[in-house]
Amino acid sequence: MDLNLQNKVALVIASSQGLGKAIAKQLVSEGANVMLTSRDETKLAAVQEELQSLGKGKVSYFPSDITKVEDIQALVQKTRDTFGKIDILINNAGGPPGGTFEQFSDEQWQKAFELNLLSYIRIIREVLPDLKKEGGRIINIASTSIKVPIPGLILSNTFRTGIVGLAKSLAEELAPYNILVNTVAPGRIATDRVAYLDQLKADKQGVSFEQIQEQSRKTIPLGRYGEPEEFAKVVTFLVSDASTYMTGSSFVVDGGMVKSI
Ligand SMILES: NC(=O)c1ccc[n+]([C@@H]2O[C@H](COP(=O)([O-])OP(=O)(O)OC[C@H]3O[C@@H](n4cnc5c(N)ncnc54)[C@H](OP(=O)(O)O)[C@@H]3O)[C@@H](O)[C@H]2O)c1
Repeated sequence: MDLNLQNKVALVIASSQGLGKAIAKQLVSEGANVMLTSRDETKLAAVQEELQSLGKGKVSYFPSDITKVEDIQALVQKTRDTFGKIDILINNAGGPPGGTFEQFSDEQWQKAFELNLLSYIRIIREVLPDLKKEGGRIINIASTSIKVPIPGLILSNTFRTGIVGLAKSLAEELAPYNILVNTVAPGRIATDRVAYLDQLKADKQGVSFEQIQEQSRKTIPLGRYGEPEEFAKVVTFLVSDASTYMTGSSFVVDGGMVKSI
């Protein structure tokens, strides 16, 4: 199976750590040229160095806050200027805070909307002229909350399902341009975000972090958290030439955790 990712250009959002970084690394190791972005320039510079040392695709970075439309515009322009085109967009973001309905004000709802849904919309709008030229791929990173709402994560439960509706509509609207749009939902992949959520749960229940992780592993048929690399490989397949007939679909990478059909 030929992934044919050499010299493809990928813009990977929220790639200074965690899932975004793992996806960027996998794409670079397959020969793609990658633009990294997040708010933290120091972290981005370190990731660029690490990925460039693989000796495969080229890596550049541009700091941006994806809740700001002018940052998004500058980021996309920088990607064009650096690599001459954009073939692949990986939409990703930091997670919203954990909490239940009565804990959140309008302002917090607005913030989560801007970070976890509006940013995806704005970035797609900005990248679209590039993708339309020769066809392309859009992957939106979501959460298994698109299948089963997660208790105590109402902001995620609300906005991630919006991503799926967006992707499904776009899959139809953009199919004439050969732009494939899919959603990939992590279950429990071992990153800082998951550690934060486990700590939150531990504090709430008055038990240790390790006890929460043990409980959590018991809900996963494969009996362990996933590694970021395992998640990144699925995304890499979906944006490669090995995947040409799937669009508008949602894929969970969760070790069997989601029990719905
Ligand atoms: N890991 C999992 O198993 C899992 C499960 C379900 C859902 N998810 C979701 O998948 C996404 C990625 O997860 P992760 O585990 O990789 O999270 P993470 O380790 O917390 O990484 C989040 C990334 O988002 C960037 N970011 C945050 N706010 C940003 C902003 N305003 N502008 C630009 N970049 C921003 C951060 O970089 P800077 O701080 O440098 O800006 C960082 O690179 C999150 O939305 C998370 O909720 C993950």
